[in-house]
Formats: sequence, structure tokens, C-alpha cells
Amino acid sequence: MVRQNLRIRFESLREDSPMKAEVSGVGMVIVLHKGKVYALDSACTHENGPLDEGSIDNDEIVCPWHAGAYHLDTGKADENTPWVHDTRSYAVGTSDDGELFLDL
Ligand code: FES
Repeated sequence: MVRQNLRIRFESLREDSPMKAEVSGVGMVIVLHKGKVYALDSACTHENGPLDEGSIDNDEIVCPWHAGAYHLDTGKADENTPWVHDTRSYAVGTSDDGELFLDL
């Protein structure tokens, strides 16, 4: 496993306010929700809409373009928005100095 620093500090996150990050050329969306940090691919599986500009609703992130929804913890597509497919989700850690990281 390789630890990838997200260059985002935990305290810079705002509840339910998605942030954009990039790891090894892959765009990701980082979300603090109910005190836990989630990371998913930022490109929507439908037409590459920017999930980092999406909104949070009921433990899901909702694409700003056509409202496709994904579960934050698993990246699974909401069955009520079948035009999107499951996306990748990543476990996020916080280092002792407050920096967020992924173990890929
Ligand atoms: S691009 Fe995200 S739902 Fe269409």
C-alpha cells in the first residue's frame, strides 16, 4: 500500500461541503459528513459531472448535473438514479498533524 497525502487538513473541511482533491492524476471529492471523512472519484459515472460541486442528501452525494446519487461510504449508485453506476470510494485517514491521507 502507498500512502497518498491529500494536501487537505481535517480542520479545513466543512460539514457537507464537498472539496476537490487530486491523487496521482485522479480527481476526487472529499466530504466531511456527520464527523467522518469520505473520498470518492470526483467524475460522475454518467457524463463526468463534477461531484465536488455536488450536494449532500441523506448520506449520499448528488451530482449537480442530472442528480445522480452515490452512497458516501461505499460509492454505490442509488437505485433510484439508475443512469449512474457504482463509483470508487476510498478510506481516508488523518495523520497526527491533521493532514488527510489515503492508503492506496
Ligand atoms: S453527469 Fe452526473 S448525473 Fe449526469
